[in-house]
Amino acid sequence: MKENLIKKAIEVLENNWQGGFTIPAQGLYPFQWKWDSGFIAVGYAHYDMQKAIKELETLLDAQWDNGFIPHIVFHNDSDTYFPGPDFHQSRLHPKASKKYRSTGMVQPPVLGFVLERMYDVAEDKSTILSHLDSLIDKVYDNHVYFYENRDIHNEGLVYIYHNWESGTDNSPMWDDIWPTMDSPDYEFERRDTTHVDPSQRPTKREYDHYLHIIEIAKQHGYDDAKIAEHSPFLVQDPLFNAMLLRSNEALIRLYGLLNRGVDEIAYLRSKHSLGIDSMNTKLFDENSGAYLHFDLRSNKLLPYISSSSFAPLHAGIPTKEIASKLVETLTNKFGDKGKLLCASFDPTHEKFNPKKYWRGPIWINMNWIVFQGLKRYGFKDLAERVRKDSIELVANHGFYEYFDCRKNHPNAYGGNNFSWTAALLIDLLHSD
Ligand code: GLC
Repeated sequence: MKENLIKKAIEVLENNWQGGFTIPAQGLYPFQWKWDSGFIAVGYAHYDMQKAIKELETLLDAQWDNGFIPHIVFHNDSDTYFPGPDFHQSRLHPKASKKYRSTGMVQPPVLGFVLERMYDVAEDKSTILSHLDSLIDKVYDNHVYFYENRDIHNEGLVYIYHNWESGTDNSPMWDDIWPTMDSPDYEFERRDTTHVDPSQRPTKREYDHYLHIIEIAKQHGYDDAKIAEHSPFLVQDPLFNAMLLRSNEALIRLYGLLNRGVDEIAYLRSKHSLGIDSMNTKLFDENSGAYLHFDLRSNKLLPYISSSSFAPLHAGIPTKEIASKLVETLTNKFGDKGKLLCASFDPTHEKFNPKKYWRGPIWINMNWIVFQGLKRYGFKDLAERVRKDSIELVANHGFYEYFDCRKNHPNAYGGNNFSWTAALLIDLLHSD
């Protein structure tokens, strides 16, 4: 089974490869997405390291002069996706790439640990190190961008200003924020719902809010300080920050292997320890037994548990005691016998919807992150359960975008032949 699945996963990736970068899925996502590219590179690393490197080189070529790496790079024109480059208008920012059009927002900073995974997987360590040598400073500059522009309280935690920056687009997490906004009823033509059953996608009203935040950011020329002041959406996300911290750690290790970067290492270390403290004092909520999102507008934690709540395990953030509490929450709320792991949103909550995008279904990238975290803390059985569930879902249903966690409702949803599902499955299959 393993060989056959790997073969099929490679086929998915090869079909989505555009000769320089990889689209997440035909039709539904026809450009290059940032965190997708990172996960995709992990898959390529197992069978075609040159492609893994090229994927990241292309993405980093679109980096702005201030270190910012955009969430979507519009390499080509496509009428299968909305909102496209004409809506986003990244060039309103004076430091935006002159070469590529993009969005003016980011996605979770996974590239540091992606480079590290590529190093660990590579057979020829000296060749991979020479490639990493030419990529690592750009990823470092991206971390500096975050800390210098988005850590407004100097606590080692960075904000996101849009739900699309979180990667977990329509999570119930954001439901409390929408009523605080007075978004217009925009007229636009959605394309996503022509590819996927609309009941599995965000609503029109949610899209109004998504567009409204971008309009506000555009009015301010995508200036970070102004966005921090005016955006109705400003959140410290435990997933996003855990990815940044895990990537800090990876960059520190890689600079060490490259025998350079003394100043860079010192900078990352100081931000890192501050960030870990803040994650544990500010974002960990004792009552929920989970890391939560902090809403910088209402100045309080958003009271929802999701798969993002467990991402800090991957970055070694929790103390042993906190890690045990997280595992208790994961087991009790997400892991009863009738469920596969790991739902994207608390299955015991009334807002849980097992079929709708980020409101409940299992996503393979989140499972990969949770798996790494559980393994890191020595929760071997639970880690193995997450790994096996992921493999079983793909083996039974195909390389879909997201999956039902209910054992008596087996199903898969969203886009098919989805790149990160294929890429990370290859990695999970190699992690036995
Ligand atoms: C969806 C996901 C986002 C992903 C993108 C491309 O918008 O929510 O996380 O990056 O699709 O696959």
